[in-house]
Parts: sequence; structure tokens; C-alpha cells
Amino acid sequence: MADRYLNFTGTAPGRFLTRRLGLPQPAPLHRFSPEHPRLNGQLLHLTAGEPAHRDELGKLLAGTGLDVVTAASAERPAAAVVDATAVTGLDSLAEVHAALHPVVRSMATGGRVIVIGAPPSPDDHHQAAAQQGLEGFVRSLGKEIGRGRTVNLMRVAGAVADAESTLRFLLSPKSAYVSGQVIQVGGAGDGAAAPDDWDRPLAGRTALVTGAARGIGEAVAETLVRDGAEVVLLDVPSAEADLAKVAGRLGGRALPLDITAADAGERIAEFVPDGLDTLVHNAGITRDRRLANMPAERWSSVLEVNLASVLRTTDSLLAAGAVRRGGSIVATASIAGLAGNAGQTNYAASKAGIVGLVRSLAPRAAAEHGVTVNAVAPGFIETKMTAAVPLFIREAGRRMNSLGQGGLPVDVAETTSWFASPGSGAVNGQVVRVCGQSLLGA
Ligand code: NAI
Repeated sequence: MADRYLNFTGTAPGRFLTRRLGLPQPAPLHRFSPEHPRLNGQLLHLTAGEPAHRDELGKLLAGTGLDVVTAASAERPAAAVVDATAVTGLDSLAEVHAALHPVVRSMATGGRVIVIGAPPSPDDHHQAAAQQGLEGFVRSLGKEIGRGRTVNLMRVAGAVADAESTLRFLLSPKSAYVSGQVIQVGGAGDGAAAPDDWDRPLAGRTALVTGAARGIGEAVAETLVRDGAEVVLLDVPSAEADLAKVAGRLGGRALPLDITAADAGERIAEFVPDGLDTLVHNAGITRDRRLANMPAERWSSVLEVNLASVLRTTDSLLAAGAVRRGGSIVATASIAGLAGNAGQTNYAASKAGIVGLVRSLAPRAAAEHGVTVNAVAPGFIETKMTAAVPLFIREAGRRMNSLGQGGLPVDVAETTSWFASPGSGAVNGQVVRVCGQSLLGA
């Protein structure tokens, strides 16, 4: 499972040899740890056009604990935030180029570029052209910037204060494997409620994670506990021993239950009579075959676990009021559901179905229940599932992204915990890929 190539390129002879041979040189990513909770270096605050909320944004940026500087005093910044909300046409779009062009080369290894945009206007096609232009800009810069640096676009549709949790996430080591993403904040949901303690935003909250006996689900549960949540861990009865071990380690409660059971929603509601704040639909399976060779059972089992059970339990728990106001539902899609993948018509249909579910339900869940609904779409993540992939395809999956390496389960977990934060109450209906900006396209 270990990425030997990444380890090799991290050594002096490895660096020398791969440089001489013109091979990729992925930079080891700096992930969150209590010893290294922040990016290492300055935060450069840039603007394009005349944003109205310059001071307010400045305060949010200062809240990250990074040293906020202007272009004149920047020295190898670890992050550059370009406020492009006031970009309304091509002249102000050119100011994004002008702001980043002189600094991009000097940015620190593992740095962050965040462009803050506004939603493209349905009434002003010049503004819409320029704002949509930012998407192409960000995705291209992400593909060329290299050295473990990431580039994302955050669109602010409401109050800039609602963007605080997202800014903190993107400007931290927690988003190390998130690049090339467009995230809209505001304009939906109840709005954000800043947590009392940004280091433990989930304190006093209860979360249930399906498929938590191993892999990504285990990492999600662990990260939610780190962030203060009490967790209920659900997995199939045949995984009960592993589930009990994880629950014991994390101080959580185990619920052995097949999520495809017709009454799974009712069983969960009985297990947590006081309700849940966060429901993470992570359980998933693959049964790959090309369509011509795929018996109906392979189709139905994947659709049943990955999508039908998510639809059923979500409906049942929302109807029972078992997800509390201010809570969140996080479902798991996949880049296969966005780009398609040979041999995975069943899996990709189920994961694209998750995207459809999230986009449709999010506004109604917010309006009727005060609950956000978002999806995380992992790319190539180093787990038992991907360790079983044949070597050549595994190597391609690892390298064919802008960061030149696979993600870790914790990368998906960090994104899930950001969605679950009360500070993310204005993040709704979003599908965020955790894929190092996978080069696999639709
Ligand atoms: P995994 O196979 O290691 O873990 C999945 C867990 O779900 C297992 O513990 C399994 O027992 C449980 N599960 C399966 N069917 C269940 C059911 N009917 N009821 C309750 N629990 C059930 O998989 P991994 O890699 O941790 O994946 C987690 C999620 O992330 C899945 O939804 C998967 O499709 C998705 N994903 C994973 C990627 C990767 O690279 N590993 C990439 C994209 C998406």
C-alpha cells in the first residue's frame, strides 16, 4: 500500500535520479497534526477590482493565525488569497492575472492559492463571463503550479462572514489533497454559526458514520472525534469485531447493521433517541464488470448499498426529525461518478446518483429541516480497496493528478469534518472532490 515512488523521490539520490530522467517529483504533502496545525509562512491578501468587504475579509484572514501581508512585504508566502468578488468584466479579470503573476513563482512548497469569486450573474453576461473565467483560470493554475501547491475557487453568494469555516479549511493543512475545486458558500442554508472553539467545532455534537469499521469511514470517525464529536459507528454485522475495536479506540458506540436493511433508518433513530447532528453516508462497495458481462445482481447490489440505502435512510431520518436543526448530511460520491470509468457503469451510476440527490435535496433540507446536504467525491485514496487494484492501474491512479500522488483516508475525513462544522451552515449542495485535481475527465 505504501507509495514507494513518493518515498524514493523524497531522498537525495531519488531526487537526483528522477530529475535527470525527467520523471514526476511529487512533493510530500504537509497534513494537519497537533504539532503542525497551520501552514508554514505568510498569507498574502490581494484584490482585483474594488471589493466592498476588504476589511471584513482581512479580519477573517487574520483569524487563521497566519501573518497577513501585502505584496510589498511578502516573502515566499504560504498562501495567496485573491479577492475577485468585484470582478465584473474583462478589465477587472486582468487584475487577477496582474495580482498573481508576480508572486506565483515565489510561493512556498505546499502553498495555497485561493481565488474568491462571486456567483456568475444570470442578468449580466459580462460579469458572468468574467466570473466563469475564474474557473478556467483556477483549474489551469492548479495543473501547472506544482510542488504540492493547490489552487481553489470559493464563490461567495452571501455574507463574507459565512465563508470563515471554508477559508480556515482551505488555508490549513487539512485541505492538502483538495485542488482545482469550485466551492460556493452562502445563498443557501441557515447561514453559519461560528463554533465556540475552532479547534473543536463539533464539541457537544453526535455524528453517525456508515462503513466505519475500516478505510475512509474509520478515518472519518477518528477525525470527527478529534474535532469534538461523539460518534456512532455503523458497519455490517460480519465486520462487528473490527467495528468494536475502532469504537473502543475512539470512545464511540458501535452499531452493527446492514445499511440496506429496509428498516435501517428506524433502527438508527432508535439507537440515537436524542437525534444526530451529522450523518455521514460512507459505506460503499464495488462489483466491477463491463456492462456486457455484468449480471443483474452486480448492478443491484452496488446500487442498493451505494445509493438506494442512502436515499431510504436519509428520507426516514429526516422525516423522523432525527437529524437536528443546524445539522449536516455528508454523502460519498466518487470521481468515477463524475468522469465515468470503464467497468464501473453500476458504481458510477450509484455515485452520480449521490450527486443528483445532494443537489436536489440540499435546498429543501435546509428550508424544511435546517440541515445541510453535501457530498465528498474522493479520487484515488490509499485504502484496502485501491491496494487491490492491479499495479499498473494503481500507479496511473496515483500519478494522474496535479499533486502526483494518491490521497489518504484522512484527506476525505478532513473535508467531511469541514462540511459537518456548524461554521459551514452556509455550505450546502456542494460536491467537493478530494482527488488532488485528478486528470481523469468526463
Ligand atoms: P472499504 O471497502 O475499505 O470500506 C467500506 C466499508 O463499508 C467496509 O467496512 C464495509 O464493511 C462497509 N459496508 C459495505 N457494505 C455495507 C452495508 N451494506 N452496510 C454497512 N456497511 C457496509 O472502502 P473505502 O475505500 O474506505 O471507501 C469508502 C467510501 O468511499 C465508499 O463509499 C467508496 O465508494 C468511496 N470511495 C473510495 C475511493 C478510494 O479510492 N478508496 C474512491 C472514491 C470513492
